Amino acid sequence: MANMAVNIAGVEWKNPVTTGSGTFGFGREYSEYFDLSELGAVCLKALSAVPRLGNPSPRIAETEKGILNSVGLQNPGAEAFLEKELSWLRTYDTKLIANLCGSTVEDYIAVAEILGDNVDMFELNISCPNVKEGGMAFGTSAKMIEEITSKVKAVAKVPLIVKLSPNVTDIAEMARAAEAGGADVISLINTLLGMKIDIKTRRPILHNNMGGLSGPAVKPVAVRMVYQVRQAVSIPIIGMGGITTGEDAIEFMLAGANAVAVGTAGIVDPYAWIRVRNGIEKYLDDNGIADVNDIVGTVQMNGK
Ligand code: FUM
Repeated sequence: MANMAVNIAGVEWKNPVTTGSGTFGFGREYSEYFDLSELGAVCLKALSAVPRLGNPSPRIAETEKGILNSVGLQNPGAEAFLEKELSWLRTYDTKLIANLCGSTVEDYIAVAEILGDNVDMFELNISCPNVKEGGMAFGTSAKMIEEITSKVKAVAKVPLIVKLSPNVTDIAEMARAAEAGGADVISLINTLLGMKIDIKTRRPILHNNMGGLSGPAVKPVAVRMVYQVRQAVSIPIIGMGGITTGEDAIEFMLAGANAVAVGTAGIVDPYAWIRVRNGIEKYLDDNGIADVNDIVGTVQMNGK
């Protein structure tokens, strides 16, 4: 059996598979299908310093090979999370990643301070396309990325992942800004801004008009961006965007991801995470590769 353990900024994961923040809630529903201890890490739905109601519905629309969402970072707030969810989640032998959101830099600092070291890693959500303030508004400016990363890093008691938006012209510039601000890890991609129109009513399906596209439709964009970020920074990368199978995950790792997140696939198949983990292991065994870390960034580009 190949080694599946990975070290992500000093945090030991038993395997390279985690959950895509927005799709997993706090894991209770999925724990009815599989043991959360089977995953290297669990990345939770975004948390803010104060509760958020999110956007009005409809806030989900199906698309070809994907979904559009405009949930709007609904969550009960970090204090309620600590009170009601943390001790239950800690009964599982997996690493916990809290996804942090807010409308201002001060909001992000506040949620990091409330959570302290109760989780194993933070993921800075500066890439949600569904809110007017914060989210993608921060994550599409290199200057803002560096500033918010350094300010949250200054108070963070656990390693800081910065989750990048694909809605930019130059993803490598954004990754370099995060690294310069002190990010320990980069994760990408969050969703691509999209829109779907009901041709009978001539109105967008989503109440918010636009939303974030995820699922297999975005995978080639995500693989390309992971490759470009791998060339630009030296910190670990968590790759995501349409991963549905072990083969998909291997593609991301060849492009340069040290670990992978599965999100939308779990909405279709609640065992997707386990299938992906098993698929990675099978690829390694079938190809006589002793350690999952050995494949990271080993894509051979044509013409090189
Ligand atoms: O709207 C949402 O809650 C989505 C969050 C995200 O894309 O990070």
